[in-house]
Amino acid sequence: MKEQRKKITVPIIKNRKKENKKITMLTAYNYSLAKLINEIGIDIILVGDSLGMVELGYESTIPVTMNEMLHHTKAVKRATEFSLLVGDMPFGSYNTFPEAIKNATRFMKAGCDAIKMEGGIEIRDIVEEITNRGIPVMGHLGLTPQKLSEFGGFKVQGRDKEGAKRICDDAFCLQKAGAFSAVLECVPMELAKSISEELEIPTIGIGAGKHCDGQVLVTQDLLGLFSQITPRFAKRYANLSEIILSALKNYQQEVIDEKFPSEEYSYK
Ligand code: KIV
Repeated sequence: MKEQRKKITVPIIKNRKKENKKITMLTAYNYSLAKLINEIGIDIILVGDSLGMVELGYESTIPVTMNEMLHHTKAVKRATEFSLLVGDMPFGSYNTFPEAIKNATRFMKAGCDAIKMEGGIEIRDIVEEITNRGIPVMGHLGLTPQKLSEFGGFKVQGRDKEGAKRICDDAFCLQKAGAFSAVLECVPMELAKSISEELEIPTIGIGAGKHCDGQVLVTQDLLGLFSQITPRFAKRYANLSEIILSALKNYQQEVIDEKFPSEEYSYK
């Protein structure tokens, strides 16, 4: 008998840590890729604000708006049957309590199961308020791209004692405020290991080593569809850019050479 697939929920994600089973997470921004990601049983689909860079061509995630996020979230939602769907709160969408609640609610109304927010102690009260209203929150610590100009670029965070302590304190702070998980981005693997061992909620690593409770990558990086920034942690499992380029060039040449459309592709 075919195994019945279950919709992934927040309690299932939290339990994975207790069961010592790794959590898989990928980003998606459109229907067709989200459909494939959902189909293979990836646990969490994140409509990340990396959308701005890999799909919309912005230089950073800063310009991304709520309306852009929601537009893509709705497309991804139409393809997402089983994975937990998380919407990423873009820069400037959670500066005040009313804004944060309103925008988190908009993600839930668009079909998300949870939202993600970057930051630690400075967003503690907002995380608490949102989770109290029944909206699950995933935290995001370490190299948080919305603070890129403060960090001075894509740099590993928490290398020194003070930085490591800050990330550790922030992680506990998010857990206390009610977050159900936390992304750790670009931090030394030993720091991610100790945070993951001490926290009750699962950690999801990106450039944070193998000891996190789960892993996330930007799908465009994994597929070789985005090469403007190539961080060391972003393993390429395919080079789709090359495959696409070759197909596009073949088409172009066949049109020029009057080989396409042949009779096979024409109507009598
Ligand atoms: O926006 C995004 O894609 C993210 C992941 C890198 C975690 O926040």
